[in-house]
Amino acid sequence: MSATPLPALPGFLDVLLARRSVTAKDMQGPGPSKAELEQILEAGWRVPDHGKLGPWRFVVFEGEARAAFGEELARIFKEQEPKADKKRVALEAERLTRAPVVVAVISTAEDHPKIPKWEQRLSAGAVCQNMLVAASALGLAAQWLTEWYAFDKKVHKLLGMRKGDRVAGFIYLGSATAKPDERVRPPLEERVTYWKG
Ligand SMILES: Cc1cc2nc3c(=O)[nH]c(=O)nc-3n(C[C@H](O)[C@H](O)[C@H](O)COP(=O)(O)O)c2cc1C
Repeated sequence: MSATPLPALPGFLDVLLARRSVTAKDMQGPGPSKAELEQILEAGWRVPDHGKLGPWRFVVFEGEARAAFGEELARIFKEQEPKADKKRVALEAERLTRAPVVVAVISTAEDHPKIPKWEQRLSAGAVCQNMLVAASALGLAAQWLTEWYAFDKKVHKLLGMRKGDRVAGFIYLGSATAKPDERVRPPLEERVTYWKG
């Protein structure tokens, strides 16, 4: 049987090969438009997903919701670090307002007779990466962060998470204040071997 040529995606590899994160503190408005955000979420959704379980969901923060969530982060942080100075608590309150839009990606992996949880978690990681790539393709700044609040049980409650859910990441989206420089990456030959038995 002859191979079926699939349509090539001109420019796509350039996006992948040039992609860089922009740190959230180097973001400003405008954020993604409504249509762009939808495209980013849809690109996120379009990941390999063993068993078609869809083991992920999104919580979007935009507008005033970012500061409101930040106030909750500051409150929880202060409960845990009562001696923290005002500057540090203020930093917590401003976490989400660093970017115009933030999306929490929740991994909702559950026990399944055939699909290991590990694979369900990997699928949620792929969602995050697809979102970064989609943002790059749109010329937007993006960063995948977890920071402390991805792992905090009280924050999980605020996100409506259930037992077994994990935060795969907070995807910060906006415009870049400056183009990020290239960063050091491990040389390919250090990480690639060709198995010869
Ligand atoms: C799961 C995950 C969590 C991350 N959490 C943080 C974080 O909390 N703080 C941080 O500075 N970078 C974090 N990073 C790293 C940045 O997202 C990013 O990889 C780095 O800034 C540069 O990567 P680039 O190659 O995309 O430019 C995280 C990356 C991953 C994959």
